Formats: sequence, structure tokens, C-alpha cells
Amino acid sequence: MIRTLYWEDGKLYLLDQSLLPATVKYILCTTPEEVALAIRNMVVRGAPLIGVAAAYGVVLAAWNYRGPGERLPQYLEDVFRLLQDTRPTAVNLFWALERMERVCRQNTDKPPATLARALLGEAERMFAADLAANRAIGDYGEKLFSRSVRILTICNAGTLATCGYGTALGIVRSCFAKGKLNMVYACETRPVLQGARLTVWELQQDGIPVTLITDGMAGYLMQAGQVDGVVVGADRIAANGDTANKIGTYSLAVLAHYHQVPFYVAAPLTTIDFSLPSGHDIPIENRAADEVHKVMGHYITLPEVQTLNPAFDVTPCQLITAIITDRGVARPPYTRSLVSLPAGGE
Ligand code: MRU
Repeated sequence: MIRTLYWEDGKLYLLDQSLLPATVKYILCTTPEEVALAIRNMVVRGAPLIGVAAAYGVVLAAWNYRGPGERLPQYLEDVFRLLQDTRPTAVNLFWALERMERVCRQNTDKPPATLARALLGEAERMFAADLAANRAIGDYGEKLFSRSVRILTICNAGTLATCGYGTALGIVRSCFAKGKLNMVYACETRPVLQGARLTVWELQQDGIPVTLITDGMAGYLMQAGQVDGVVVGADRIAANGDTANKIGTYSLAVLAHYHQVPFYVAAPLTTIDFSLPSGHDIPIENRAADEVHKVMGHYITLPEVQTLNPAFDVTPCQLITAIITDRGVARPPYTRSLVSLPAGGE
């Protein structure tokens, strides 16, 4: 299985997703600043992976701290702020950092080395829990499909977005393992091309059949009756089921509704933000104009043209057939079904 990140001898290694699929290279991080930059620049991306990478950023801060013990709490506070400010939409980032903050609070009187080990343990538990959650999502999701299914997806909600197996692509993998998968249609996902660069690459590694389409082709395929289900990941799900995911997801949901194709969101329970009643309050990240002006670093338009670059959009709950979580499948009305999902052990 592809390793999206790993910890070795007090150092963090991140698979540089900005170089895929041309180059497979790990970058070495020894400071939280390097991790924050990697998250901001999308060297690591995908909601669950951002959370776990940030957690390891906190580990690095404590692991390499050499200052006076009494200054450590203030330093860690600055580190938490730095990591929180990297990307605003994926709630997993804030969830993971809250867990790390709790460990800091529980170890206030301990020497830095003891705190660092406790933080490492917490990051490792999150990593393992995410992998297990994705396998559970795959199992629940696979049961919703019958034979020879054609699944359309956007962005990358796979191994590369998580600690392994993936959420939307976890369902794809489970369908494939059961001999049920006919085809994955991967939307290329402009502007950053996570579909073309990442989803295609990781599915091909596993021999899973995939067809790349440009984002504008999804309606054509649905109209032609060639899509049995749309399965997407999520960056944040509000208490009523409204879901923020990669820009273009909302358009797919509207198309799926029109063509009566089931539209599924796949995400671990940690992606649900019960503090937000609806998607209206989900912060949407706006990214640099360069991502729209350029493809893989090359201008494709006039450099001075005005652009828009919201990285995510919100799909209203009314357009979502079901939300597939690691604790079961939630159906409308989500205000009731999401809170009824059994909570995890952690
Ligand atoms: O901007 P990105 O690449 O971080 O966006 C990722 C997505 O939108 C994913 O679909 C989402 O984070 C779910 S990943 C399991």
C-alpha cells in the first residue's frame, strides 16, 4: 500500500503529492513550520490526512524542543495556531489538533521528552484509527451496490487523502475486491487536478479499472446512463448533512439528482461537525489565482485575467442519497440519522 506519511527516527516523511504522478518522492520534515507549509502548499492534502499530518507537526515541535521547560507551553500554543491557520475547510484538521491539545494538557507537569512520546502515541493512534475507519466505510459502502457497478468520483478521496484505503475510493476498493466494480470514472478536478494526477495513479497501482474524464463530461455520461452511483469524499459535514467537498461536487450532485443517479458521501465520523447546524457556516477556502491561471506551472490563459478559486463547495443535504460513515450508513433526515450513529471508542 502507498504510504502517505511515516515517522522514522524522530523525523516525519511526507509523500509529495504535488509531484505525482511524474515523481514519487518523500519530503523530510523536522519542524512544525515545514509541516504547516506542506499542508498549505498541498504537498499533503485530503481532509483526514491533513489532520494526521498536523498532529505529527505537533509531535515534531515537542520532540525537537531544546528551550527552557517553562517556555514550552507558549511555544506549543504558537505551533497550534500555525497549524490551525493552514487550511480552513477540512474539520479533521481542527479535530486532530484538539486531540493533541488534550494530550498537552494531560502532560503539563511532565518533561518535554515525556510529552513528546505521549504526543507521538496519540498521532499513531489517529493514524491507525483512520485506516480502520476507511476499511469500515468500504465495507458499508460496498453493500449498497449490486453487480458490475460504474462509479463516478471527483478529486481524490483515496489512500492519498487518508492514512490508507481511502473513503470514496475505499468503497471503490471494496467493490473491486468483491468483483462488483465495472469502472471508476474520475473527474480530472480542475484546478489542481487531484483526479487526473492522484486518483488515476493510485487506482492504477491496484489494477482497478479507471477512465479519466474532464469535469464537463459528467453530465454527458449520466445522460447516457453510464453512471450507477456518484461517490465523493467530504471535508466537513454539518449536522443537517450539508457537505463541503472539492469544488465541482455540488454540480455533480445536481446532475445526479436530475438523472436519478444515487449520490453518496463517504466520510469518517470525524468529518462531521455537529457544532454547525447547516453548511451555510462552513468556511470555504479561497486559493491563489495562479492555480487557475496555470496547469502544472504553465500559463493557460492571460496572466492578468481575473479569476475565482474557491477550493470547495457545499452540497445541500437534499441532494445526498446517503452518508456512508465508519459507523454505518446515514439516510435523510440527517439531523436525526447522523446523531444516531454509534460513537467511536476514542
Ligand atoms: O484540496 P484537497 O485536495 O485537500 O481536497 C480534498 C477533497 O476535497 C477530498 O474529497 C476530501 O478531503 C475528502 S478526502 C478523504
